[in-house]
Amino acid sequence: MTNEQGLREIISPSPEVLESAIINNRAVLANMADQDLERFWEEQAKEFVWFEPWKKVLDESQKPFYKWFVGGSTNIVYNCLDRHVLSWRRNKLALIWEGENGDQRTFSFHALNREVCMFANVLRSMGVRKGDRVTIYMGRIPELPIAMLACAKIGAVHSVVYGGFSVEALHGRIEDSQSNVVITCDGSFMNGKVVELKKIVDEALKRCATVEHVIVVKRTGQPVTMEAGRDYWYSDLMGLPVARTANGASRCETEEMDSEDPLFLLYTSGTTGKPKAILHTHGGYMVGVATTLKWVFDLKEEDRYWCSADPGWITGHSYIVYGPLLLGATSFMYEGAPSYPYPNRWWSLIEKFGINVFYTAPTAIRGLMRFGEAWPNRHDLSSLRLLGTVGEPINPEAWRWYYDVIGKGRCPIMDTWWQTETGMFMITPMPETPLKPGSATKPFPGVEADVYDENGNPVETGEEGYLVLKRPWPAMLRTIYKDPDRYVSQYWKRFPGVYFTGDSARKDKDGYFWIIGRVDDVIKVSGYRLGTAEIESALVSHPAVAEAAAIGLPHEIKGNAIHAYVILRAGYEPSEALIEELRNHVGHEMGPIAKPEKITIVPQLPKTRSGKIMRRVLKARAQGLPEGDLSTLEE
Ligand code: PRX
Repeated sequence: MTNEQGLREIISPSPEVLESAIINNRAVLANMADQDLERFWEEQAKEFVWFEPWKKVLDESQKPFYKWFVGGSTNIVYNCLDRHVLSWRRNKLALIWEGENGDQRTFSFHALNREVCMFANVLRSMGVRKGDRVTIYMGRIPELPIAMLACAKIGAVHSVVYGGFSVEALHGRIEDSQSNVVITCDGSFMNGKVVELKKIVDEALKRCATVEHVIVVKRTGQPVTMEAGRDYWYSDLMGLPVARTANGASRCETEEMDSEDPLFLLYTSGTTGKPKAILHTHGGYMVGVATTLKWVFDLKEEDRYWCSADPGWITGHSYIVYGPLLLGATSFMYEGAPSYPYPNRWWSLIEKFGINVFYTAPTAIRGLMRFGEAWPNRHDLSSLRLLGTVGEPINPEAWRWYYDVIGKGRCPIMDTWWQTETGMFMITPMPETPLKPGSATKPFPGVEADVYDENGNPVETGEEGYLVLKRPWPAMLRTIYKDPDRYVSQYWKRFPGVYFTGDSARKDKDGYFWIIGRVDDVIKVSGYRLGTAEIESALVSHPAVAEAAAIGLPHEIKGNAIHAYVILRAGYEPSEALIEELRNHVGHEMGPIAKPEKITIVPQLPKTRSGKIMRRVLKARAQGLPEGDLSTLEE
């Protein structure tokens, strides 16, 4: 069943949902924001502590380099921790964590703040200063958010690299950000196995020169190589006097940051082989992320909230780490795989910790759905009130299963459309919004979205076109780190003055948006964003490969799977063993998520006369579809 076939159904919120929702006047808010965008966001910004108030809400004078809350100073960490510690929330749980092996840890706001302060002191003692970049490469353990917060607290810029990435992906990201310090762990537990992260760091560091110190959290305990003078155990450092103030207190002053000072870099895939570092800032990001989380997930003081993403992706940055802490919420984090040791692990965690709001991805739902309803039905899921999804369009079958089997037909599903670049939810329901399964519904108040044709004119209702955003928003990316020209050309050139998302979409007669997918060379595999060019460059780094092309083809669980076509160098013969070696090579360089589903050895690739690989032709051929316009195809 396609999304269109699911289009007829409308699910209205129940009276209970409507009655308890924080926001039940979405249209009024949208109207207010339409009338006066700056005033609308200014009202939300007043929820936070600012050391210095802003002089101007939005500065458009150098667009598309928009600035928000200009002249203001704050620190997102002050609003995530310091202010809660000074309030009654001090002893409220901020983070509950369970390891794949059943280990459990909990942190109150006080305890989390204490750990962050001490680690911030350690980083300062190592010479980390405001503006310095720090790479974090870890499994899903509490020290990951602790490291992020410690960096931000002292004004350092964190660059988290997802723990599922491997040597070359990590190397490229460390080198581009020019990090002096890397924070990692010995390993992490995933699917009953140990992922040897420190080993990958060692290998990546052989390829780059900038890193002076590596801090290693002990999680799995297998032997690792520690290079004297470079590598330190986290627990040793935290036990040193440098982790405390001169009089021995576990405190650390939070650095005052300009609203527009960088908070983090997050690398994401685009159309070239080089991943780009999206830059987010302290002020606007804080306001956008907290407001969207509160209104969309309707987070109440007493809720327990679980976002199953990895903190290494934007979903984790915004809605595991910063968003929930800004709201003073209690969130839960789980280290391992959803079906380990059995496919009821997630459902058992929902029951065990009494999760009220659960946020995950369609690929995970499809993956767990195939084990059948008996697994969730073994558990009492009645604590759930609201569900969420993100990362790719959700197909009607998965939507139905999530709604009926997990939410028992009671919990509205918030299908949130957004990107690494947007920082916050952009097109999304709120609990009060009537839902159409498969649609992310309507733009958040203050967000103006549209669907354009090739020439930049709005398409007719129901027609497919390019999804664009027409007004700036506070959590928007500010630039691509060290590459402002690419920022302009990538997002603001195609349709001058409006932000080009890279997605195609359709808008129906009720103004609901239906996201179709990427229109560029980005492939969404299990919701993870990968660039065809990155996979191709991993392939050609193998001595047997002369040329490579990667495409995404539909896959039942992953959404899309990578298929690669390679031309061998002279002297290499095609064989099953070589194909397996190439798959493993991509896994080693990029990470397991980038391993092609299938590699086909071919004598040539379809190219334009100017030598560009025509991936759409490969895609059409693989699916037995018409090949379209071939006038530019080389003879
Ligand atoms: O194609 C859209 C898809 O994910 C892309 C952004 O990927 P990334 O930067 O990795 O961020 C993912 C998490 C925010 C978008 O361009 N996407 C994201 N959410 C949805 C979606 N597609 C359809 N429906 C969604 N809810």
